[in-house]
Amino acid sequence: MLIKEAKFIKSSSKLSECPSNRLPEFVFLGRSNVGKSSLINMLLKRKKLSKTSSKPGKTQLINHFLINKNLYFVDLPGYGWAKTSKSNRKKWDEMTKNFLINSKNLSLIFILIDIRIPPQKIDIDYINFIGKNTLPLNLIFTKCDKIKKTSIENNINTFMNELNNYWSPLPDYFISSSHNEQGRKGILNHINEIIK
Ligand code: GTP
Ligand code: MG
Repeated sequence: MLIKEAKFIKSSSKLSECPSNRLPEFVFLGRSNVGKSSLINMLLKRKKLSKTSSKPGKTQLINHFLINKNLYFVDLPGYGWAKTSKSNRKKWDEMTKNFLINSKNLSLIFILIDIRIPPQKIDIDYINFIGKNTLPLNLIFTKCDKIKKTSIENNINTFMNELNNYWSPLPDYFISSSHNEQGRKGILNHINEIIK
């Protein structure tokens, strides 16, 4: 898929505020700081379109970006360890889950996993939440520029083995780096196949 145009549309605090035209939505979800906003910028080749930070908890609302006038990328707040209050984290969690369950336009949810860290309960819980609600899921392992190729393979195997306790068949996955554009073509082609 060629990115001809990408623009920020709006930030919403609940589903009823989200854009009302029913275009397919591709959602980026994962722990705070995993690299959701960076990945969106990398895919779109727009360094500053979605705001990023080294401090977890940057994205706080449901952000819609309109791509080529025919689909949305949706950037969500992270779960897990955002540097914010417990009540804020709960609010984001409810907002996210409500959006995922009730948006009628979800084409695919990408859950992003930091390739460097062992399987986290909160990731497995979110992945299983998506499974229970029979929503479409792919995984993206992020920050692959940070470790060796052999460690990438080992860590993916460890994660998939853990997921094997709950899932059959296992969800498809991509590996990515927002620093060197690894994964860009594969992810965009996949999106293109889905909207065709
Ligand atoms: P929240 O909005 O807080 O949930 O975070 P996020 O998931 O949107 O993460 P964000 O894109 O803001 O990136 C967090 C930090 O990780 C930033 O310092 C990025 O520069 C860094 N980062 C993101 N992706 C990569 C990557 O592929 N490689 C490396 N080395 N760093 C990355
Ligand atoms: Mg973000």
